[in-house]
Order: sequence, then structure tokens, then C-alpha cells
Amino acid sequence: MENFTIYNPVKLHFGSGVLSGLGKAAGAFGKKALLVYGKGSVKANGAYSECTAALGQAGINLFEYGGIKPNPVIEDVDQAAALGREKEVDMVIAVGGGSVIDSAKLLSVAIPATHSAWDFVEGVRKPAAGLPLIAILTLAATGTEMNHYAVIQHDALKKKSGYGHRLMFPRHSFLDPGFTRSVPAHHTAYGITDLVAHSLEAWFGEGEASLTDRFILAILQEAMQYGPMLMKDLENPGLRARIMYAATCALNGMTTPGKKSQDWGVHGVGHCLSVLWDIPHGASLSIAYPAWLELQKDRIPDRITELGQSLFGTSTTAGTIAGFKDFFAGLNSPLSLGQMGIHPTIKEKDELVKVMGTNEVDGLAHRLSGKDHRALAEMML
Ligand code: NZQ
Ligand code: ZN
Repeated sequence: MENFTIYNPVKLHFGSGVLSGLGKAAGAFGKKALLVYGKGSVKANGAYSECTAALGQAGINLFEYGGIKPNPVIEDVDQAAALGREKEVDMVIAVGGGSVIDSAKLLSVAIPATHSAWDFVEGVRKPAAGLPLIAILTLAATGTEMNHYAVIQHDALKKKSGYGHRLMFPRHSFLDPGFTRSVPAHHTAYGITDLVAHSLEAWFGEGEASLTDRFILAILQEAMQYGPMLMKDLENPGLRARIMYAATCALNGMTTPGKKSQDWGVHGVGHCLSVLWDIPHGASLSIAYPAWLELQKDRIPDRITELGQSLFGTSTTAGTIAGFKDFFAGLNSPLSLGQMGIHPTIKEKDELVKVMGTNEVDGLAHRLSGKDHRALAEMML
């Protein structure tokens, strides 16, 4: 077991009606807020009106930046940061899914600066200050509500990169599972896939930490038991709540203590699929994970079958891979690019391999070579 430090300052409010605390939380940070949201779901499901009403009652003056797209882009972050600078806001409030919250995290450290937030992502500059960020989550998937990471796309460079800084932890996150009841079936499935993938990135990390492994298995079991039930009963508040909390736990630091690293190779591959074809994040992972497991099955058979034994009662790598494929297929999360209607030409496959190189899709624990990138590209068709 490795030495470790645990630091997570997010004040997480979970459950029905928790937004009643939003006004007080925001009031502690000042009087002017930049409210960030996506392409309209929050206006349809009531989250926007509930937030603006609570903030209005608390006397918070709101400036809005809407239209953040799924697989968010750096241009929106920079434009929203410029607005926040111009209006001299005291805080940033994000209402939506991971794309909105990640954009808000980056712009909360970009507002006090004068350059593009991409400089942070590329490591050219470090944030010196961050505005307080409040997140109101409406989609269970990424875990962004309780971590300090943001993932952002630079279309011109064909890059999708993750970046983390301690100034980017939300000060408060409000998770009312009721807001996730309007998430359509396909995004519900991709969210479950994402939380499973986060658990797997931790499982396949480097180092031994038995209790952490048990936490990881518990999160996987929760997702595998209740995820399929939720897919059949999308309005069920209890199931929405279970999946929402599981998604938070899958990437809030609980799955790392005692390990040397996680892996993140599969996420790297998935990000390349999103850069090239704008595939939703979770869908990219159900395509990439079975291919990655095939690639690794003779390299790390014991680690794969240990998982298979706990989750599917199988003692073979083939049985484990089949178990994951059946699980993703049962959610209706795609297993191949073809299932997303994407049939890459030879030139497009070459481009995918190239983009995996420029995005440094290496894997931290199980290193991927250029030859592996080529093999994965062929296996995801
Ligand atoms: O844009 P709107 O209209 O809001 O619609 C969104 C979007 O179309 C919709 N949606 C969200 N909440 C809804 C809803 N529709 C109905 N009812 C609701 N309550 O869902 C669609 C997808 O939203 P998005 O925010 O893109 O999904 P998700 O939460 O899965 O976030 C994905 C992004 O997070 C990154 C991914 O790479 C991707 O860019 N990730 C962030 C991580 C982190 N910060 O820790 C880790 C993850 O591995 C991941 O990489
Ligand atoms: Zn993910």
C-alpha cells in the first residue's frame, strides 16, 4: 500500500429539496454571479427556474452564459470568462451536467487571469486565484461535482484533455436526484457506463490497496444491480438517487487511496473518439473498454479474472469481457463505432491512430504503444 493524503473540500448537499440551501450558500460569496448552463435541458426540467428563484430571493444579481455543448469546447470557456471579467462577478454557478460544470470550473480560474484557459490545460500557466464555484448537478455520470478535474476540447488542435487544480473544487455541490429524472434513456445509460469506467480505471491502476479495491467493487456492484433496473424505470426517484451517489463516489477520491496510480488509458481512447466524431463521453467508453480488455487479456489475466469472479462469477478473461459487453449492451450503450453509425475509412482510421498519439493516450499503469493504438482502432469498429 502506498502513502497517501486525502483532501476533498467540497460541501456536497444530496437529496430531494436540497436547493433550498442554494441562496444562503451563494450569499456568503457576494452579490454578483455568472450562471452557466447548457443547451436548454435545465429550462425544460425546472432546474433553471428553481435556481434563479432561490438566487433572486437571496439578492444575487445574475449574468448568464448558456449554450455550453456536450464535449465542451475552450471557446465557450474563454467567452464566458470574458463576460465574468467584464461584469466583475463574485462567483460562478453551474447548473447542468459534466460539460457545464467542467466549463465552469475552468472559467472560475480563468476570470481572475487575462489569457485563454487553454494555457492552464497545456500547463503553460498555473492558476493564481479562483472564484468560488457552486455546482448544481442534473446528470449522474462524471463525478465532477466532487472533484477538481475538468475535461475540455480544443477542436482546432484535435485535443480533448483533462486538467485538475485544487482551486477548481466546487465550494458547494447540490445534488437533487429529482432533476435527473428528465435525463433521456441514452444519456442515463452513458452516465452508468461512465461511472463503471471510472471504477475500472481505478481497478486497473498500479499498486495494491485491498480496502480501496473493495470500495471499487462495491461501486461496480451498485451500478450493475441498480443501473439495469433504472433503465426500465427511468422516473424512479430511489433508483435515480442510488445511481447519482454511485457516480459521485466513482470519482471523488475514494477509489485511489493506497494505489500508486489509476490507469486512464481507456478514457484517453474515448476522448479521441469524442474529438473526431463528437461521440458522447459514456458511449465512447463502452466502445473502448471491451477493446482495451481484449488487448490486455494475456498481459494482465489475473487482474481481469479477479474482477470477473466478483462481478460475473466467471474465472476466465473471455467470460469477464463477455460480462462487461452484456452489461453495456443491456443498457443500450454502444459496443462499436458501427453501432453509433460511424464506419471509418482507412484514412479516418489512420487519423484516429494519429490523434491517439497527439493526445498522448498512454495509460498510466498499462502503457499503450503506437502498435496498441492501431490494434485498438481496429477492434472498435
Ligand atoms: O446541454 P443540455 O441541454 O443541458 O443537455 C444535456 C446534454 O445534451 C443533457 N442533460 C443534462 N442534464 C439533463 C439533461 N437532459 C435532460 N435532463 C437533465 N436533467 O445531457 C446531455 C449530456 O450532458 P453532458 O454534460 O455532456 O454529460 P455528462 O455529465 O456525461 O458530461 C460529459 C463531459 O464530462 C467529461 C466528459 O469528457 C464530457 O466532456 N468528464 C468529466 C470528468 C470530470 N470532470 O471529472 C471525468 C469524466 O471522465 C469525463 O471525462
Ligand atoms: Zn469518464
